[in-house]
Amino acid sequence: MTRTTVLGVLALLAVYTVYHAVSDVPRRISPQGCRMSWMSPSYLLQSEFNTSWTPLASRYSLWLYREVGWEFTQPMGLPALFIPGSAGSSHQVRSIASSAARQYFSSPFLVSEEFSGREMKPLDLYAVDFNEDFSAFHGPTLDSQIAYTSAAITYILSQYPPNTKMIIMGHSMGGVVGTALLPSPDISAIITMSTPHTLPPVRFDPRIEEIYARNRHILLNDETPFVSLCGGARDLLVSSESCVLPEVDPQLEVDLHPVYRRTVFTSALEGAWTGVGHLEMVWCHQVRWRVARVALELGGAAARTLRARATILDRWLGDGHVLPLTLGPPQEEAEVDLKRGTYETLAEGMHLALKSPRVRRTYLLPITPVGENESGARRTTFVLYVSGGGVLSVAPHHALDLRASVQFCVPSSGADLDVESVRCVPLEPTTLRLLPSPRARQPFPVPEEGSDESDGVVLFEAEIPSATEGWVGVSVDAGEQAGGWVVGGFDSREILTNNVGLAALVFGIKKIQFTPADSGALRIRVHFPQLPLQAVLVYSLVPRLTESPSCTDPLFPPLLMHRSRSSEIHYYPLRHNKPLPIHSHAAAPYLQPVEFHPSPGLDLVIYSSGPSCDDPVELSLTIDWWGSLGRLGTRYPTTLLSFCIATVSFVLFHDWRPSERPQSVSESLEAFVSGTMPRLMAAAAIAALLPLGPKWYLGLSGDLGLLASVLAVLLVGIASGLVCLSWWVLQALMWPLQYIATVATQARKPEDPGLRCSTVASMALVLLFIFLFVPWQVAFLGCWIIQLLNCAAHVRDGQVSSMTNTPVQAIPLRPQDGDNHGNSSELTEDGVIGCSVNRGICRSLATHAPAHRAAAYAFHQNAHILLLLTWLLPLTAPVLAVWVRTLLTAGYTTPFNGDHNVFKVAPILWLLDFLGRGRTFDTRCRGKLSPRWGFVTVGVMSMLMGGRWVYLAYDAAIAQVCLVLFLDIALWYFR
Ligand SMILES: *[C@@H]1O[C@H](CO)[C@@H](O)[C@H](O)[C@H]1NC(C)=O
Ligand SMILES: *[C@@H]1O[C@H](CO)[C@@H](O)[C@H](O)[C@H]1NC(C)=O
Repeated sequence: MTRTTVLGVLALLAVYTVYHAVSDVPRRISPQGCRMSWMSPSYLLQSEFNTSWTPLASRYSLWLYREVGWEFTQPMGLPALFIPGSAGSSHQVRSIASSAARQYFSSPFLVSEEFSGREMKPLDLYAVDFNEDFSAFHGPTLDSQIAYTSAAITYILSQYPPNTKMIIMGHSMGGVVGTALLPSPDISAIITMSTPHTLPPVRFDPRIEEIYARNRHILLNDETPFVSLCGGARDLLVSSESCVLPEVDPQLEVDLHPVYRRTVFTSALEGAWTGVGHLEMVWCHQVRWRVARVALELGGAAARTLRARATILDRWLGDGHVLPLTLGPPQEEAEVDLKRGTYETLAEGMHLALKSPRVRRTYLLPITPVGENESGARRTTFVLYVSGGGVLSVAPHHALDLRASVQFCVPSSGADLDVESVRCVPLEPTTLRLLPSPRARQPFPVPEEGSDESDGVVLFEAEIPSATEGWVGVSVDAGEQAGGWVVGGFDSREILTNNVGLAALVFGIKKIQFTPADSGALRIRVHFPQLPLQAVLVYSLVPRLTESPSCTDPLFPPLLMHRSRSSEIHYYPLRHNKPLPIHSHAAAPYLQPVEFHPSPGLDLVIYSSGPSCDDPVELSLTIDWWGSLGRLGTRYPTTLLSFCIATVSFVLFHDWRPSERPQSVSESLEAFVSGTMPRLMAAAAIAALLPLGPKWYLGLSGDLGLLASVLAVLLVGIASGLVCLSWWVLQALMWPLQYIATVATQARKPEDPGLRCSTVASMALVLLFIFLFVPWQVAFLGCWIIQLLNCAAHVRDGQVSSMTNTPVQAIPLRPQDGDNHGNSSELTEDGVIGCSVNRGICRSLATHAPAHRAAAYAFHQNAHILLLLTWLLPLTAPVLAVWVRTLLTAGYTTPFNGDHNVFKVAPILWLLDFLGRGRTFDTRCRGKLSPRWGFVTVGVMSMLMGGRWVYLAYDAAIAQVCLVLFLDIALWYFR
């Protein structure tokens, strides 16, 4: 067993393991609870939108959705447009459109009461169809989609009264298309679903980067209200950190111009509280009905101003975190005087706990003076939970007739606390949001069902200034319907801060014990300021609960909230010994870290309705390695590819060293694995510790410490193993091909080393063909096939097998310099070339060496170049797929703009022509002038920049091919 075999097998195992870890991510880290949606769809082709509107109308199409049997086929309402993503279909509009129709009409053709009284219109939801093009791979395709969609909006609005505005919904890359339509006076709001806004998911095309740069500018400056819905860890196709909109400074936002930008993770979306996969985003019932509802509401007369639209978006697609823009003017409620008999005073220190209240009453909770410590007063927070009802504007969608309001009350006269009447003013909440209320002994979220529209507990938190005397008054107004409960009380506990660092977790478990006083609290806050939040890092938190058998079920069992950035919240019910996957999208590879963090580190809050049988006693925190591996697996494939290209470059660098005997690819790989790879690993490990910033190399901003080094070493190891594997695959391919590789032999006549006119002519013809018709990527694929056949033909000719089987010692060594007088190139005994080192140039090998040795040399060089081309192939393959798809779906005459840059492939054509004519590069005797150092540059560049801009690896390789060819010509002249 050679080292390359071992490494190849290990790399294969590693890839297999990572694949399993990745496919476990949805289940382990972010389970999904989504109800299926049902509809009766029909799609009306808008054939009047034809080529007189846009030439692209012959390629794409526009459809109008109608719910069969529920609404009239004529468009009559408010227009909205759905844009599908990469390889997405226009039919994906059906779930949202159907929900809009069935919310607007309570039964077929009968407008629901909710809408009829408010003069609101139904939704006419159009969808563009892009033939399921792979827009994520290809900038020009994305540009065509943008142009077509823009024309479609003009067409649609021409069918409606003037000044009508549209709502744009985009799924995945459709959101990128939607963003690029801005600024536009025709768009009232944009809602994107699972859209990668800040980092292209496929980074093989520089033209996609241009579109992203334009969109970034739009997202930071345009004032159209914008909501981005993100699915979280469950979305394996688009990493959700790139779904987060770029953050506008919150202060700037209010002062300069009202920019409503909102990222909502579905794990925080009120009423949904579930991870949602990439494709599920368009049909998940809990999400789609809200999107449909927002679109309906935005069509109402009340949505004229930007602020009004922002408020509607916040109300239906919010996560409970109220943005300054949607707050509106402060409520000025008059003071209320409570007369004795209408209120009830609770004993000091008692919690308010009402089950199924059916009265109208105010409860006064005396504010307990808390002991002051040396540095000043402690803060007391009033915490109130309302289940089944609402506080202010927050309530579950189908709430009971239960309302609660919170006031700050003082005696109306004098300082005496026990007087006839009290005077109250409304207490401003610091937090007001709907929390999920997981059902006991059921998974959360419930698979294939998820939360109900009546689920949810309203959390109200308000800070009480210290040293205040008086009461907090909770007015409960309950109707006849039974059900629901209200629990409230004070919390003056400090945040439990734990300074455990990442290194301590790598080697062990951190346990956090709660005191008995803590464990029954309404709210426990735990903070780990030293633990980094990274998208590739998953922590595992195992709670231990009291689990005493003799107690009743709590009203609200402990619920853990993890808030990692202002837009991202995850909720987990605490279950005894059930590990919770604590993960976040706050910082991630190749993304700028978030600036406006709530607080650094890991921040956890446990909410519960007070002492019960399930009080948390202890939390154990560790790293979830399997989960972290799964998260790594979706974020580093591009980086791994660029590391593979780097590996091949280093192998070629080794192969082109001044040496006397030809070396086969297997030998080069063996030499690389035992010599260069350990050094490369060491360099990679050290580089991982450097603060290179989020765009370079591994894209980590230094928060993972030594773990980043481990990652770098693993990536180098796996990349080397994959390159070894790829050589086996190539050999396996060549074996059958050698029998049909006659074409290649024709071109490989060694007796024809010169450049002929016919060669120039055919080359010019090929380049013209690329310039006019086929994308250069097709020519690259052709080059790769020719090179493969070329190598296969060598194999057939037989010299190779005899060469590769020759034991190393059988190859004669070059005679000592003393034997060779060193002033000119000499053919030494046994056909091995000596060279005049002092001139740095040696004669062409092929003319002097015995034929079989020269052929072997040519084969090995060809094989090395084949390996390089093979690893460049993945960078060009996506566009090939796009091209084939476009040809198949849009007809052979579709203009395929872009991709006719002949310079991207001309050097390769030239190189193959050179090699195909039986010539070889003499790499042995060039001394310091050798172009082989160019391969080191390619390798280093691929490693440093490949993760973020992998297409640069291709450009670097092409530049190196140019350099090699150029030097060869130059040397030929100076010979
Ligand atoms: C496009 O449709 C309009 C209206 O149906 C028609 O008048 C026009 O001739 C069509 N144009 C083309 C190029 O088919
Ligand atoms: C006193 O209270 C402040 C504010 O809550 C807190 O930051 C500080 O750590 C406390 N000091 C002591 C000694 O408990």
